[in-house]
Amino acid sequence: MAVSERSVFITKTGAIAATVGSAVGLGNIWRFPYEAGIHGGGAFLMCYLLFIFILGLPVLCAEFIMGKGTRSNIFSAYNKLSPGKNWKFLGFLGILASLMILSFYSVVAGWTIEYSIGSICNNLDFSSAETGHNQFNELTTGWRPLVWTIIFLFCNFFILIGGVTKGIERASNILMPLLFLLLLAFCIHSMTMPGFGEGMTYLFAPDFSQITPSVLLGALGQAFFSLSLGLGCMMTYASYFNNKSNLGQTALTTAMLDSLVAILAGVIIFPAVFSFGLTPEAGPTLVFEVLPNIFHQLPAGMLWSTLFFILLFLASLTSTVSMSEISISYFCEVKKLSRFKATLISSAIALIGGILCALSFGAMSDFTIFGKTIFNLFDYVSSNILLPVGGFFCSIFVGWFVSRKFINTQMQGDKKSISGFTPVLVFFLRWICPSAIFLVFLNSLGII
Ligand code: PFF
Repeated sequence: MAVSERSVFITKTGAIAATVGSAVGLGNIWRFPYEAGIHGGGAFLMCYLLFIFILGLPVLCAEFIMGKGTRSNIFSAYNKLSPGKNWKFLGFLGILASLMILSFYSVVAGWTIEYSIGSICNNLDFSSAETGHNQFNELTTGWRPLVWTIIFLFCNFFILIGGVTKGIERASNILMPLLFLLLLAFCIHSMTMPGFGEGMTYLFAPDFSQITPSVLLGALGQAFFSLSLGLGCMMTYASYFNNKSNLGQTALTTAMLDSLVAILAGVIIFPAVFSFGLTPEAGPTLVFEVLPNIFHQLPAGMLWSTLFFILLFLASLTSTVSMSEISISYFCEVKKLSRFKATLISSAIALIGGILCALSFGAMSDFTIFGKTIFNLFDYVSSNILLPVGGFFCSIFVGWFVSRKFINTQMQGDKKSISGFTPVLVFFLRWICPSAIFLVFLNSLGII
């Protein structure tokens, strides 16, 4: 959806499909299991779900209200709604976060291309957990990940300038339900695995003693990352909603589907982890090492594998297209550049970041800042710091500085009556969201 055209999603389902398309991606299927794996499983899932519904949902509504009400990008939205220009920094924060995410996300999306092609050509060897591990290392070091990252960013670039975003949206209306069905099928298969019970206990039985400051911060970051929140992405998308869109319903549907996909991914991964004698703490490589072992066990495994990785690649594209719009809309609407130039600049920055992130698994694996490789640093800083900070200010802004009348009008959609939901929303935005985010930060700094 080209920002400069300021078009609208014609139907209600179109708006929902686009926001779900942005929200559902690698964050659910790749990032959630690995974060849950390093943060103790059930305890992490519980905190994550709590944050999605108590903090994510109100902030999602706040972004929707700002986007739909101002019909602008994140910069102009804050400018239009506030008398001073003091909120401009949030626009820059959003751009910084989106480019950092685009950088490491493209590397992982590049792996999905590599695995799709490997599956099509039937040259992946996942006959045991060990060969799977070695295969992953082979595929993600050296020149190969660089090439796939570049190819992925090129696909993203082509979609953004080619005006085929609509086509992608239409395709994703069909393909995303297919991905969902595929995940369901894999869940059923996971019930037959020897490690099913152990995996389920790990994911669903919270061990409260595991809730540490880093688990809370990780879950907060994951909730915001997964809902594409805190950087103006949902604001930008909501600027294309038509006036009748029901924001509450769209937000709730997005949050529910998004968390459901993450849970399904967990139900697939953890039983397999225990069945194959692996450990859940593998980190970013977890899903790519575990999933192919599952495919290997299935009849016509390479077919499943091909289908899955192609769908995951497309799910990544619908997410990167949405996050790219943040910087592109800034360059187009604020800096008055052509869409082509704007897309070129954003993609070039992401390309440099992407190359550094890709090298983190190879030549630059020993190069660390604060003990983290560039890949992990970009992931940590954007998800765990920048997004919650963006969400914190967005909730304060809408809760305290935007009139209730404006909020009501935007929330109403095609309903005539004033929704009883607004006072609750405002209460959450004023008090609950900012204080909870603040407390999680203080907690993670060891202050409380
Ligand atoms: N929500 C996406 C996912 O879970 O894969 C990631 C994402 C998309 C983050 C768009 C931020 C964003 F602006």
